[in-house]
Amino acid sequence: MTAGAAQVYIVYYSTYQHVKKLADAIERGAKRIAGVDVKLFQVAETLPEEVLAKMHAAPKAADVPVIAADDLEKADGILFGFPTRFGIVPAQIKTFLDSTGKQWASGALRGKQAGTFFSTNTQHGGQETTALTILPFFAHHGLQYVPFGYGHPNLQKTTEPIGGSPYGAGAIADVTDESPSKLELEVAEAQGEYFARQVLVRVLGERALAQQQQ
Ligand SMILES: Cc1cc2nc3c(=O)[nH]c(=O)nc-3n(C[C@H](O)[C@H](O)[C@H](O)COP(=O)(O)O)c2cc1C
Repeated sequence: MTAGAAQVYIVYYSTYQHVKKLADAIERGAKRIAGVDVKLFQVAETLPEEVLAKMHAAPKAADVPVIAADDLEKADGILFGFPTRFGIVPAQIKTFLDSTGKQWASGALRGKQAGTFFSTNTQHGGQETTALTILPFFAHHGLQYVPFGYGHPNLQKTTEPIGGSPYGAGAIADVTDESPSKLELEVAEAQGEYFARQVLVRVLGERALAQQQQ
């Protein structure tokens, strides 16, 4: 950890590890920004082992800690990643969000920045709607939403199906496991770099303002 560095947290849920691969690419991109510490977390699984086995779920990343609501208080910016479930966030993410009542009551997350990345199994299966379903959470906590916009040229390509949108990086999760594609990972890296830069700019700005007001 670098003293005084801005803290970017990447918080994801992933059943089959496509979102995890996006999270890794986002982490690589975010780490390009000097003055930012980047930490990867997963949310707790809520399904029993028996159900996960029937779903042929992939093993969880053993080296990624499970996040607790209190951890969010140490972040300056948080990128949330999740696969779609019928066009909305999965229950595992919702369960985690629902554990942040203490942070809502104290306003601990107010003014921090947040963004999204996501995965669907089909091209039109919820790349955008899934991201939209977390925005009320951002609003209620006073989190500043940082969308990616068309921040990478791959988002404008029409030659092949590519996940991702102005709401963030995305994967069209291929059951053959060849996804995310190279193009999708490039978008994810660029989003990580952009988000980390935006967080650093705000944190440095807040510090300069605090100094000026002393
Ligand atoms: C209950 C359930 C609902 C799903 N709903 C959708 C859907 O509405 N649209 C879609 O494209 N994929 C849907 N999927 C596929 C997942 O989004 C896909 O497996 C996921 O994006 C892969 O990401 P992961 O490897 O990180 O788990 C669904 C999967 C499950 C288990």
